[in-house]
Amino acid sequence: MGTLADESTGQLFTSCLSASKSRTEFWAEFIRQAEIKRMVEVGVWKGDFAAEILQRCDCLTKYYMVDPWRHLAGWNKPANQDDAILDSFYEMAKAKTDFARNRRVILRGKTTEVIDQIEDGELDFAYLDGDHTLKGVTIDLIRVYPKIRTGGFLGGDDFSRTIWSHNTSFEPTLVFPFAVYFAEAVGATIYSLPNIQFCLHKTEQRTFGFVDLAGQYDDSTLRGQVTPEKMLRIFLGERFPHLLGLFRKIRQVVSG
Ligand SMILES: C[S@@+](CC[C@H](N)C(=O)[O-])C[C@H]1O[C@@H](n2cnc3c(N)ncnc32)[C@H](O)[C@@H]1O
Repeated sequence: MGTLADESTGQLFTSCLSASKSRTEFWAEFIRQAEIKRMVEVGVWKGDFAAEILQRCDCLTKYYMVDPWRHLAGWNKPANQDDAILDSFYEMAKAKTDFARNRRVILRGKTTEVIDQIEDGELDFAYLDGDHTLKGVTIDLIRVYPKIRTGGFLGGDDFSRTIWSHNTSFEPTLVFPFAVYFAEAVGATIYSLPNIQFCLHKTEQRTFGFVDLAGQYDDSTLRGQVTPEKMLRIFLGERFPHLLGLFRKIRQVVSG
């Protein structure tokens, strides 16, 4: 895998997007076209993504699978199931990727517990899909980025335009905009991609850029997402969904 200049990186993503219909197809296409050899997936769940990527990408020689597969105290997200369920997901992930057992390496633990079993600069690509709270994305980006070699990529899921991707009884999702701030801090170009995906390119130039290939990330500040008006609308929408529908209709009528 060589080092790509920014323009050809944009072209690479565009080419992968036109050859794919789903999130997994896109990343498989990307891994093949960028000739990724060593990668990590952080947050593996039942192993469906891992199995499909390993199936579709013969170029991969090493696929690290990082996940604690246990209940995590303080992780307030819907995926935080009890130990028995997560243990059964571990068994599923193992069984689904057994066909590639000589290429996969299972690292069972939180990012902080296992990531240093991977050498700095060892990876061509990392895919972050674990804890998407502010705490989680901060830890994952800071601890995984050094594992990527210069010229490599760091991508991930849940680059959602809204931080309230789940009900407000859960912790907000901060992959966006935090990953953009992180890219600026380390001097990398970050690309937004369809299906709420993102990818950072780690290059020697160390210049920051944000290329919005998904075309929906015009504002990377937080304020617009937490104004009292917005919070009230979200609160009413969750508690009284019918009322919100009624307000919308009234607004349509008033605005003609
Ligand atoms: C959304 S699921 C991953 C889905 C999977 N990547 C896929 O596409 O099929 C999130 C996973 O992150 C894991 N996770 C949560 N906190 C983590 C942490 N601190 N370190 C690593 N993995 C974590 C959870 O155990 C869960 O399996």
